[in-house]
Amino acid sequence: MKTTRRAWISTAAGLPGLASSALLRAQETDVTRVKIDAEQVIARVNPMIFGSFIEHLGRCIYGGIYEEGSPLSDSQGFRKDVLGAVERLRLPILRWPGGNFVSSYHWEDGVGPKDSRPRRFDTAWYAEESNRFGTNEFLEYCRRIRSEPYICVNLGTGGIQEAANWVEYCNSAGNTYYANLRRKHGYPEPHGVKYWGLGNEIYGIWQAGHKNAEDYAKIALEAGKLMKWTDPSIHLIACGATPEWNATVLDVVGPIADYLSVHLYVGGDDYYELLATIRRAEHLLRVTDSVIEVAEAKRLASAPAGNIGFPVRGKRIEIAFDEWNVWYRRRDGRERAVRNKLEEPYNLRDALWTASMIHLFQRWGDKVTMANLAQLVNVIAPIITSPTGMYLQPTFFPLELYRRESGRQALHTWTHGPSFTSRQFGAVEYLDVCATRDEQGALAIGVVNRHKDRALRAEIQVEGMEVRRAGKIYTIDGPSPGARNTFENPGAVGVSARDHAGFGPRFALEFPPHSVSLLKIWPA
Ligand code: AHR
Ligand code: AHR
Repeated sequence: MKTTRRAWISTAAGLPGLASSALLRAQETDVTRVKIDAEQVIARVNPMIFGSFIEHLGRCIYGGIYEEGSPLSDSQGFRKDVLGAVERLRLPILRWPGGNFVSSYHWEDGVGPKDSRPRRFDTAWYAEESNRFGTNEFLEYCRRIRSEPYICVNLGTGGIQEAANWVEYCNSAGNTYYANLRRKHGYPEPHGVKYWGLGNEIYGIWQAGHKNAEDYAKIALEAGKLMKWTDPSIHLIACGATPEWNATVLDVVGPIADYLSVHLYVGGDDYYELLATIRRAEHLLRVTDSVIEVAEAKRLASAPAGNIGFPVRGKRIEIAFDEWNVWYRRRDGRERAVRNKLEEPYNLRDALWTASMIHLFQRWGDKVTMANLAQLVNVIAPIITSPTGMYLQPTFFPLELYRRESGRQALHTWTHGPSFTSRQFGAVEYLDVCATRDEQGALAIGVVNRHKDRALRAEIQVEGMEVRRAGKIYTIDGPSPGARNTFENPGAVGVSARDHAGFGPRFALEFPPHSVSLLKIWPA
């Protein structure tokens, strides 16, 4: 149902037909109107959008999630304090081992007795890799945090056989060399790794063994075939990039891949410009989606491929947004990035951006069925450690809150309110609102107030369900948009919860400046 803006404003104001232009102007500047239709599901949200990523890079793994000999670690070398924080994120999926690292990583270096594993030079990050954390340690970690493992294979300096052998090592129940090697290493049962990435950012000159689209498409198809021949139940993620690259790759790899990847990093000190980059992410999704649409039409119109040995994908390829974050403060070219080990300090503004990215993934839930924040610990990460402790960056809190409170149905949400003007992206509303509903019918309404210094009011109307007056409001805020947590002051930015008894079919609320709120409303 469509309501004209004027009619809606006048009824919402309780003044049917009397909305004077002055009232209209005042309301347009001050108040955001929100209408949520609980019966209109715009997307089914896959919880895998709350995934993460760990790479052998700086202190992400060594000194991050894994620190042998530390009094803070358990007998397997996992940092217990970090494990506790990671568990709070309830990660549905975890990507490993890179990133750029994987493009010159040979997985056999990282299995078997730890003291016999070779110490190698890592060309991606000019570092020394001890290989003491490898496939089995990663899979143990995933079991501990109850997360699906997602392994990205080396299609830079690695070959197609090496990729297939990795699948055999992890997943085969047969009596063959790599399956038996896994048994010899202490794992009689297959690990059952379902998600496998066909290389990382192979399009980029910074990648070991980078390739053009045609060459990548060939090796990805061949590796993917061998991997699915080894275990037909696995899901493959093809490496995505520009529209031209994607078109070539989808033509060749499309029939055997299940996902196409998207990566995005944004940066900049300008408060509003950075928050407006959500538009860039949205644009990237729209462009990627259009290319997929065309590739899909071509695939359906062409004669079926010859007998490939396993069923080709019957459904549309999905999008895996498998690297995303703010990253610019520790990113001044490769050397500097290596020197600073990408230990990006995040502030409250970055947490607002993170919440808006989650909104975007929820709205795009039918198409973006996996997303992985890059990364999890120390390296462009929500969790920071030292040898003696850890703290949470502001970006941790939206990830934890939305994962815990959101539902799987994204609902139609209409907003009209004041906006700021971005140089790059034009008008962007201050309030970013996204509503979901869970299986019990509970609503989670996320509201990001991007206004830098003013509280903003919203008048929210919920249609299509009766709601209880009593609910909860969670708020992530802090003293200023630049507020950060540190070892000395780990609680500058955090999340608070309070009961609220004023919900109903129509209610008004004021949202603090530069804050994220999540309203939890139950059905009556
Ligand atoms: O996440 C950091 C790096 O960013 C990854 O190694 C690479 O895939 C991307 O360029
Ligand atoms: O910082 C090195 C590389 O440069 C990153 O991995 C990539 O994203 C960037 O272009």
